Amino acid sequence: MDGNGRWAQSHGRPRLDGHRAGADSVRDITRASRQLGIEALTLYAFSSQNWARPAEEVMGLMTLLREFLIGERSEILDNQIRLEAIGDVEKLPPMVKEPLDELRTASAMHTGMTLTLALSYGGRESIVRAVREIARDAAAGTLRPEDLDVDRLTGYLPTAKLPPLDLLIRTSGEQRISNFMLWEIAYAELVFTDVLWPEFRKEHLHQCLEVYAARERRFGLTSAQLGLDPA
Ligand code: IPE
Ligand code: MG
Repeated sequence: MDGNGRWAQSHGRPRLDGHRAGADSVRDITRASRQLGIEALTLYAFSSQNWARPAEEVMGLMTLLREFLIGERSEILDNQIRLEAIGDVEKLPPMVKEPLDELRTASAMHTGMTLTLALSYGGRESIVRAVREIARDAAAGTLRPEDLDVDRLTGYLPTAKLPPLDLLIRTSGEQRISNFMLWEIAYAELVFTDVLWPEFRKEHLHQCLEVYAARERRFGLTSAQLGLDPA
């Protein structure tokens, strides 16, 4: 979700107004995804690196996160959404951590859609954590190095319980990954749109899904193998 700051700037408003407008997009996209029957939606809300932004902006973002968790609580529960979080959530202030934990617990049994917030999240940081645990298990003798493979490593990542990543959308015209789901994007389709996040609404999501649907996903195979060649 990128472009909040530029959206605010283009309207001559403080950056935090952009984040506030971005929160409206979060609501709209979450609702639209649920309606579309998307199994899992993960929102990159705050990166490990975002902590280094000005304290005032970090504080503002934390306040908005709290407002989202409290304000959307009933809609999340009413719509059978399971709320999850990935990232170093221990770093979050109690005003965010508490409503986050509460909603995770309250929605844990829901099966409608998994909404995951990436908070204090970094793809590299996630891999480091996984590797640290792998090393610990190897040292403890519960994991033999020769048994480690792609699936095993995947199991150590915070996204292990999510379905494979199909589509990654980045808004605001930037064409980079910025430390998001580095392992998980291996065969994901990437869609970049110039729309700034505060203006990204369900119509734009539908457009991105159309782009996605037109892609041929081969996973390293040939079209013929997949029966995708024109007759
Ligand atoms: C994304 O918008 C929101 C967060 C990172 C929390 P930005 O704040 O990165 O917006 P730009 O890139 O300055 O426009
Ligand atoms: Mg940005």
